[in-house]
Amino acid sequence: MRYILGIETSCDETSVAVLEGRSVCSSVVASQADLHAQWGGVVPEAAARQHVERLSPLLQQALDEAGIALHQIDGVAVTNRPGLVGALVVGLAAAKALAFALRIPMVGVNHLEGHLYSAFLTEPNADIPFPHLALIVSGGHTELVLARGHGDYTLLGHTLDDAAGEAFDKTARLLHLGYPGGPEIDRRAKQGDPHAFAFPRARVEGWNFSFSGLKTAVRREVERLQGQGALDEATLNDLCASFQQAVLDVLVEKAIAAAHAYGVDTLTVVGGVAANSGLQTQMRAACHNMRLNLKIPPPKYCTDNAAMIALAGYFRLKAGERADYDLDAYASAPLGE
Ligand code: KG4
Ligand code: ZN
Repeated sequence: MRYILGIETSCDETSVAVLEGRSVCSSVVASQADLHAQWGGVVPEAAARQHVERLSPLLQQALDEAGIALHQIDGVAVTNRPGLVGALVVGLAAAKALAFALRIPMVGVNHLEGHLYSAFLTEPNADIPFPHLALIVSGGHTELVLARGHGDYTLLGHTLDDAAGEAFDKTARLLHLGYPGGPEIDRRAKQGDPHAFAFPRARVEGWNFSFSGLKTAVRREVERLQGQGALDEATLNDLCASFQQAVLDVLVEKAIAAAHAYGVDTLTVVGGVAANSGLQTQMRAACHNMRLNLKIPPPKYCTDNAAMIALAGYFRLKAGERADYDLDAYASAPLGE
C-alpha cells in the first residue's frame, strides 16, 4: 500500500492529504473561518454546504501537489467521528465513492486519534514512542490521553465544561476580537502583562480540566472596566495576557504531573491551541526541567488537517482494518475510555 488519501470534514476545515507510506506528499486545507466569523462561531448547516462545494477541487489539488493520478491511490482514511454529523457525512460520502470506484480499502478514523498522530507527521522514519502522553487541546476538546500503542489509548482526563480553544474563542468574543479567537489572543498576549489581572486557575481533581469559571471571571472584569470606561488597547492586551496565562498554567501543570505519574518520557501537545506561542514556550521550559521529550507539530498540523487523519489511517490499514460501505458518522466518540 503506497499512497493513502486522507479526508477531513469534521468541523469548519475541509482538508485532503496524500501520504506515501508515512511521508506527507500533499496536505491542502480550506478554512471556513471567514464564513463563520459573521456568526461568531461554526454554523453546522453552513459548514456542511461549504464542504460539499470545496471537497472535489481540494481532492484534485491534493493529487496535483502530490504529483499522482487518482487511480494510484491505494487506500482511503476518512474522519467519521466525533464532529458535526452533517459535515462528517460529506467526507464519508466522498471516501465511500472513491473506495468503491477504485476498489480500494477504506478506514474510518477518530478525529482525536488523528490529532494524536499529528505530532509525528514530520518524522516519517522515526518509531512512534510508546507509551507516551498526549495533551489534546482544540476548539472542541481538552483531553489527557495515555497512548500505549497504536489504537491502544486510555483517557486520563477531559474538560468538565469548555474546551481550551473554546475558552479562547469565547473570551475573544467577549472582547470583540473576532473568530477564531486563539490566534488574536496569542498575538495580543505578547504585548500584555500576564500578571495584570489575577484570574482563577481551576484546580479540578484528578486529570480533568475546567475553564468556564475563568471565562466568567474575565466577563466580570470586562464589565467592571467598561463601567469605568477603562477598556483601552493596553488593558485589552493585559486581559488577553492574563487570561492566556491562567489557561497555560493549568495545562502545563497537569500535563507535566501526568507525564511524571505515568512514567512516560515523551509528551505531545496537539490540536489548534498547541499552536499558541506562549504554550509552546512554557511547555518547552517545563519539559526541559523534567527531562521530558516534547513534540508539538508545526502550526499547520496543530489545526485540523487531513494529513493527520491519513497517518492514523495508515497504521489502521497496515494492521488490516477495513471499513464497510455502511460506515457511519458520530457526533461524539471518546478516545480510549
Ligand atoms: O484543532 P482545531 O483546528 O479544531 C478542533 O478540532 O476544534 O482547533 C481550533 C481551536 C480554536 O478554538 C482556535 O481558537 C484555537 O484552536 N487556536 C488557538 C491558536 N490557534 C488556534 N488557540 C490559542 N492560540 C493559538 N495560537
Ligand atoms: Zn481538531
